[in-house]
Amino acid sequence: MKYNYNKEPLKSLSIKPFLSMVSDRNQVIEKAQAVMPQSEFNANHLAKSLHPQVQHVKIKKIFDHGDAKSFVLRPDQTKGTDSLAYFRAGQYVSVFLDFEGGCMNKPYAIRSNPADALGGEDNQYILTVKRNNPGFGSSYMLDHLKEGDPLDISGPLGEFYYQKFRDARDVVALAGGSGITPFYSMAAAIAADIEDFNLTILYGSRTSEGILLKEELEQIEKQSAGKVRVVHVLSDEEKDGFEHGFLTAELIKKYAPSDRTYSLFMCGPKAMYEFGTKEAEKLKLRRRFVRKELPGDCSNPEKNPDYPKEAAGKTFQIRVHISGEVREIQAASGQTLLQAMERAHIKAPSHCRSGECGWCHSKLLSGSVYIPQDADGRRMADLKFGWIHPCATYATGDVELEVYPVMEELG
Ligand code: FES
Repeated sequence: MKYNYNKEPLKSLSIKPFLSMVSDRNQVIEKAQAVMPQSEFNANHLAKSLHPQVQHVKIKKIFDHGDAKSFVLRPDQTKGTDSLAYFRAGQYVSVFLDFEGGCMNKPYAIRSNPADALGGEDNQYILTVKRNNPGFGSSYMLDHLKEGDPLDISGPLGEFYYQKFRDARDVVALAGGSGITPFYSMAAAIAADIEDFNLTILYGSRTSEGILLKEELEQIEKQSAGKVRVVHVLSDEEKDGFEHGFLTAELIKKYAPSDRTYSLFMCGPKAMYEFGTKEAEKLKLRRRFVRKELPGDCSNPEKNPDYPKEAAGKTFQIRVHISGEVREIQAASGQTLLQAMERAHIKAPSHCRSGECGWCHSKLLSGSVYIPQDADGRRMADLKFGWIHPCATYATGDVELEVYPVMEELG
């Protein structure tokens, strides 16, 4: 093959610096100290501040919304967290909860404006937790946490945020219940000029009384110069100014750009995902334009057609190798291995609780398990060498597994 390029500029380059490279490098090595420098490199410092494994916070304020509460979290300098890590609107943190009867890491979307996470010691996150979130973590947070309480949370996680090179400039969001929280953060970021895209939120609630953060959303909509629009959709009530029914393909078409160049984001309860996924198929959008936030804890495995029916209703022995110890625990057939370990107060690592992030990655040493297809986020190599995600795995016989506690700082 013949390349036709202009070689003239190359002629002015001298080869001299290249010839002395090796001897220059050897001189630098000779002069260096024999011990590793104790100072932290800027790149490492930046990486730590952007992706901390653990952040120590205190609950500064709690706002009560009826069946939900918002927790304002500030850094706890007394424990070494000077400021909170910056995040992209739509990301989540996992909150470590340690209580009588168990311990767990529970993921919650950061509901606040990313701008609030900048600014030294006054920076903050807001998490909004709704009572009907599945699992006992949310009930514990609503019923037991009070202002001034300390908490340990992870750094910001997840990829459910606007990505300019992947997503369309217009985004239609389907939200249900507390699934409004990542979209609230995105809307606030748009109104504050931190994000630049158009966001139409179709927010499903049962009744107008039950709409979470309604006034706050109206306020953001006004400040957004037309870039944010919120449409409330009520399933159990007909009322002027509100849509009635469900988040159907017809409704999406009514509010979306007619040329189908829009991204569809979903966040809400599992039933909404199942319904929304079927409706999204009717719209024939490009695959990369359909984005879903993680659905949270796996549940009801026996409803899946491929579940081994003979395992239903049984309890199995689980032998867990962790941190040099061996623990014998029990798992009911409807409990994930992660839930069983948490109930036994074993501090197993986890973040997403949906089989996606790989944080709970553990080795299945022996035994039979069931992994729902839609929650199996393992790589080919994991499958080949017997790795599982306990957050998305159910015992169907006695099981032995090895767990690697990568978040030892938590708890
Ligand atoms: S916690 Fe994310 S895959 Fe298990």
